[in-house]
Amino acid sequence: MQLNGLNYHLRTFGCQMNLHDAERIAGMLEALGALPTDTAEQADIVVFMTCCVREAADQRLLGQVASLKNLPAPHHRRLIAVGGCIGQRDGAKLVELLPHIDVVFGTHNISSLPGLLTAALTGEGAQVEVPNEDEATGILPATALPAHREQPWHAWLPIMTGCDNHCSYCIVPKVRGREISRPFDEILHEVQALLTDGVVEITLLGQNVNSYGRDLYGKPRFAEILRAVGTSGVQRLRFTTSHPKDLSEDTIAAFAETAAVMPHLHLPFQSGSNRILSAMNRHYTAEQYHNLVRTVRQAAAAAGKGDQTLMGSVALSTDIIVGFPGEDESDFQATCELVREIGFAQAFTFIYSRRTGTPAAELIDNTPAEVIQNRFQQLVEIVQQSAWQQNQLELASTTTVLFEGNSKRDATMLSGRSPKNTTVHAPMPTGKTLDDFIGRILPVRIETARTWYLRGELV
Ligand code: 5AD
Ligand code: SF4
Repeated sequence: MQLNGLNYHLRTFGCQMNLHDAERIAGMLEALGALPTDTAEQADIVVFMTCCVREAADQRLLGQVASLKNLPAPHHRRLIAVGGCIGQRDGAKLVELLPHIDVVFGTHNISSLPGLLTAALTGEGAQVEVPNEDEATGILPATALPAHREQPWHAWLPIMTGCDNHCSYCIVPKVRGREISRPFDEILHEVQALLTDGVVEITLLGQNVNSYGRDLYGKPRFAEILRAVGTSGVQRLRFTTSHPKDLSEDTIAAFAETAAVMPHLHLPFQSGSNRILSAMNRHYTAEQYHNLVRTVRQAAAAAGKGDQTLMGSVALSTDIIVGFPGEDESDFQATCELVREIGFAQAFTFIYSRRTGTPAAELIDNTPAEVIQNRFQQLVEIVQQSAWQQNQLELASTTTVLFEGNSKRDATMLSGRSPKNTTVHAPMPTGKTLDDFIGRILPVRIETARTWYLRGELV
């Protein structure tokens, strides 16, 4: 099986797990001799890593695949492969809808992609292979494949796949299957290999990292993972995503006390209304969320994380859904209130999207779309205000920055991330080039604080 002389182009939608699966696909295709290209025009193979968490991502995929139909190929033909969550959900239906698709694969069989591409290349017609997790036993899991990392200094490290929760709006458990944790030792081995390879920052991935290990060891072992990876020699450790209902005292202690674990926590709350939280099947109340955040901040401040004040100890980010079926004005106001009270550094806000096959898809909703749109706008403004306030706390402080590249708007500016995951810009010193900074962690004194970034001078 060889792909020598062929160019591939990867397009990835959705979450970090997809980004990482895409790195594994790149690693696999390049091991077989294929070369990456920046555009679909130049590519003999176009691979889409898809997301179906909201309808917008579905529509975007269909539009992009359709637009390739009559695009001339660089050589005699172009193969189109669709994988990830839509591949898993729709299987052969995708080829019925768009007959110029050559390969459909799912979330459990990334390692089958080269074989499917080869079969399609040799004229065996469209190849559709979408096993569910039980049928996929024997297929190499994605986590076993070598990755071609986007940035040499950063690695995504999946510690588990799937999700055992039943949030009523969410399609993820259907397309990613049940929770499967990777063995503890396997994770630590991968960490060692990444460190040898020069990685300075690792982000642990899972739909719900807090329950890591429950399936394998009968009890969650995420706190142990944090401590073990956090003391491995890695300079920065991050993780996502945490479900509030599973964030244990032990995990909070490990988060607070392990110096390499960055003072940033992504903790989706989805809604500030207890009635809606219950309909979402989230298993916590707004008050419990509030208390949890207080506990995390107190533990972090006591352990000397962040700037050691209660607000400044940990930067919080979150996900919020607006327009869940039955959400009324008072429910929405409860969401706004929670955002104002907590002080989020960042919040990803989404308009509820009905997903066929989820329990919430059966619920009736009479709220007009304009009302939901209007609430969404209000929420975006409150989130911006909150992010701006959080950034003001950083003024005049000195923070370490892991440099990633140039500012997109201004090539004379270096750009990177603070421990709290805020974007920080600093002017490039004269006589230096980007290569002097990329992947390095250096102190910056903060002089300007805007809504979505900080700016300062290298110290
Ligand atoms: N509609 C809107 N947002 C959703 N999310 C998940 N499912 C839906 C849906 N059906 C959001 C949640 C989750 C994030 C990854 O996507 O906020 O945390
Ligand atoms: Fe979806 Fe809930 Fe699982 Fe997150 S925890 S992936 S929102 S079901």
